[in-house]
Amino acid sequence: MKIDVATLFPEAFDGLKVGIIAKALQKELFSLSLHNIRDYSADKHRRCDDYPFGGGAGMLMTPQPLRDCIRAVDPDRKSLRIYMSPKGAPLTQSKVERLARCESLLIVCGAYEGIDQRIIDSEIDEELSIGDYVLTGGELAAMVVINAVARYIPGVLGSEQSTEEESFSDGLLEYPQYTRPAIFEGAAVPEVLLSGNHAEIAKWRREKQLEITRRLRPDLLDNEGEDGKR
Ligand code: ADE
Repeated sequence: MKIDVATLFPEAFDGLKVGIIAKALQKELFSLSLHNIRDYSADKHRRCDDYPFGGGAGMLMTPQPLRDCIRAVDPDRKSLRIYMSPKGAPLTQSKVERLARCESLLIVCGAYEGIDQRIIDSEIDEELSIGDYVLTGGELAAMVVINAVARYIPGVLGSEQSTEEESFSDGLLEYPQYTRPAIFEGAAVPEVLLSGNHAEIAKWRREKQLEITRRLRPDLLDNEGEDGKR
């Protein structure tokens, strides 16, 4: 998979390149190319922002540098073009899985109060939000998308890790997990997990998933079927 990012702050992505993601990039399991939108500004001072028509607080990113950057990076419109924005559709695990099946992604990060709507209308395929709160720019949100997507790229997770049995993978939160010691500060691991009875363990885990989801995220049970899960 190939991931391109258009941003005014490419250096922000240093924070993404740690641990499993750093290893995956070294092994070239996917590529990550950062493109500085400012490099495409035709303005003599390389400006990329201006006041909003109609008034209002803050500045907007101007269309010219964004258009030229996006079209230079993806001239044949082969990538799925995503704009990170608090008014986008919420990112879910099933959306992550769908993005991971794409050959190439171009993620556009806004700054200031956002970008000129005409760029969204003419250049962007999808607007995505990572939650109902506003960040100072799309960079952290883009890193969340890249990190979540990378986990589905073959070879990124070691064989001991898996995307199959974890929270959201079947529309439910994950069951509780324990490791050694069997008793820690007087608290014992649930007996069934030490029984070696795999059918009983699977049943216990399913019950726990339902119980925890009902308690912490009842909305996930209400949304049953929304993502075609369960
Ligand atoms: N940019 C600013 N806030 C954001 C959010 N919540 N999700 C995605 N992009 C954003």
